[in-house]
Amino acid sequence: MITEDKKSTVENQLPRDCTFTPQDWQVLAQYWYPVAQAGEVTDKPVAVKLLDVRLVCYRSNGKVVVARDLCFHRGAPLSKGWVENGEIVCPYHGFKYSCEGKCTSVPAHPDMKISPKLKLIVYPAVERYGLIWTSLASTEEQIPDFPGWDDPDYLNVLPPSFDIAGSAGRQMEGFLDVSHFAYVHTETFGDRNNTVVPQYTVKREGGGLLAEYVSTVSNYGKGQDNAAPEGFEWLREFRVFPPFAASLTVHFPNEGKLRILNCASPISARYTRLFCPIARNFDKDAPVEDTIKFNLQVFQEEPGDG
Ligand code: FES
Repeated sequence: MITEDKKSTVENQLPRDCTFTPQDWQVLAQYWYPVAQAGEVTDKPVAVKLLDVRLVCYRSNGKVVVARDLCFHRGAPLSKGWVENGEIVCPYHGFKYSCEGKCTSVPAHPDMKISPKLKLIVYPAVERYGLIWTSLASTEEQIPDFPGWDDPDYLNVLPPSFDIAGSAGRQMEGFLDVSHFAYVHTETFGDRNNTVVPQYTVKREGGGLLAEYVSTVSNYGKGQDNAAPEGFEWLREFRVFPPFAASLTVHFPNEGKLRILNCASPISARYTRLFCPIARNFDKDAPVEDTIKFNLQVFQEEPGDG
């Protein structure tokens, strides 16, 4: 539930060229999303965007900081600045901000008392599954479960993020829509002669949804050795974590499990950055690059502007 206090805070942060309705933006800002891959965030600031809000990400003595990409002096983007002794330096007049957002230096007036109002807006930042997560409304942490990633029995694969000219909701539909496999993914794993989607039920689970679906559509890629016995039934478990994340666990022969976490991060109402960590407990010696290539090919097969 959005409290009145929280609501007014969020309203104050409504971005200037917001592509969402104010109501949608206020609701969506309450959730957590990944905004960058952890490996891309160093002490060199990077610019990212979430729900039309420009953000800067960087590391301050190893700790990840996510903040509004806006210096409150004259509005310069801090992502064009640099980090010095753990503090971000604005490239325009050299103001410095601590990782809590406090302005600690105004070089033109070194003896002046700095107003506490001169503050950078800092958001919570959590590093998980190789990604940096944040929430614009600074709500309590809600990051989807992704068993396997921290399990030593699994191999982790983190493909590069993928930008999509479409809404996060539409991308989620594509991830959950199994009936398009036979038409769209014919070069990777789909089969034009196996189009039927068996009936399955959807249950509520925690704050999300669970759908278990069994079919004979193989998950082995075209040209890959298919180790499934004749008539093997593939169990696929989809979990949905509102608003824009879902996981898929595919049960392979011999207790093999492939887990995929599909996180559609809404850059705006019409653009999405997809993050997709993968973990599997089989084929652990197979080159990671092959998985990344296969994953990219699957996404590129989707219709629309990728
Ligand atoms: S605009 Fe950032 S220090 Fe002036």
